[in-house]
Amino acid sequence: MADPAPRFQQLLPQGAPGELEAAPLLDEMFAALSPPAGRPLTLVNFVASTDGRATVEGRSRGLGDDGDRSMFHGLRERVDAVTAGPMTMRVERYGRILRAPERRERRLARGQSAEPLACLVSRSGRLPTDIPLFGCPEARVIVFAPATARADLDGLAAQVEHVALEPDSLTLPEVARRLRADFGVATLLCEGGPTLFSALLAEGLVDELFLTLAPLLVGGGLAAAITSGAPLPEPVRLRLLWLLEREGSLFARYGLG
Ligand SMILES: NC(=O)c1ccc[n+]([C@@H]2O[C@H](COP(=O)([O-])OP(=O)(O)OC[C@H]3O[C@@H](n4cnc5c(N)ncnc54)[C@H](OP(=O)(O)O)[C@@H]3O)[C@@H](O)[C@H]2O)c1
Repeated sequence: MADPAPRFQQLLPQGAPGELEAAPLLDEMFAALSPPAGRPLTLVNFVASTDGRATVEGRSRGLGDDGDRSMFHGLRERVDAVTAGPMTMRVERYGRILRAPERRERRLARGQSAEPLACLVSRSGRLPTDIPLFGCPEARVIVFAPATARADLDGLAAQVEHVALEPDSLTLPEVARRLRADFGVATLLCEGGPTLFSALLAEGLVDELFLTLAPLLVGGGLAAAITSGAPLPEPVRLRLLWLLEREGSLFARYGLG
């Protein structure tokens, strides 16, 4: 028998029902979302330690628990497309986006495709083509990369569509525009990493941040935070939309803008 779904205590907004699972919360949230014109509504999901680190020994795996996984997969189950930076896909060994058949069945019942598109953006054209995702015949992967990347994409088992853009026009606003206009993506989930998240923030392309704060201290340098690179032109103010708790982890949903 399958394990029972994790249950969360909703701390904010006040007056919300006590314990609940991720599914009804996310169903209600997605029903109320309204994508902006010309690009997908973009949700970003991260897990961090309480001292603000996004990795343990170079990967996020050691940070998230069952509650984090249920939120992570619950978001994947409901969006039109999932993206992550090439480095994240490489390090985390990305595979099929929705492995659980029951999640794919629920998508079909909602009138969506069986699984979300996977989307990869690379300006260098150095693609992680050896990850399991590209070996999965059911996966549909949209790759935004220069024309030179074409040779690496031939012969892969996944259904890959290469949108060839040269570095000057390979910008995140252009990718967002094309995802909406050419691929019908109204909701996009970005799963990091810090470099891609920072670039999306700098372009004003992030609508919501889902941040799991794990009850762990990891130590080490500040290099491994959820953002990276140069400071943003000015601090981005977040609106706390909900706060959940489960077994000491805090699950915050923030709105931007
Ligand atoms: N805790 C968490 O929730 C979490 C989530 C995700 C990742 N992580 C961790 O984060 C690490 C990987 O993150 P990362 O920051 O090194 O890399 P990343 O954000 O995964 O990927 C960075 C790459 O994105 C590509 N890119 C495309 N458009 C870009 C743009 N406009 N600006 C900048 N880059 C763009 C570039 O690839 P090209 O050079 O090919 O152009 C760049 O090198 C891993 O250790 C992973 O485990 C943690």
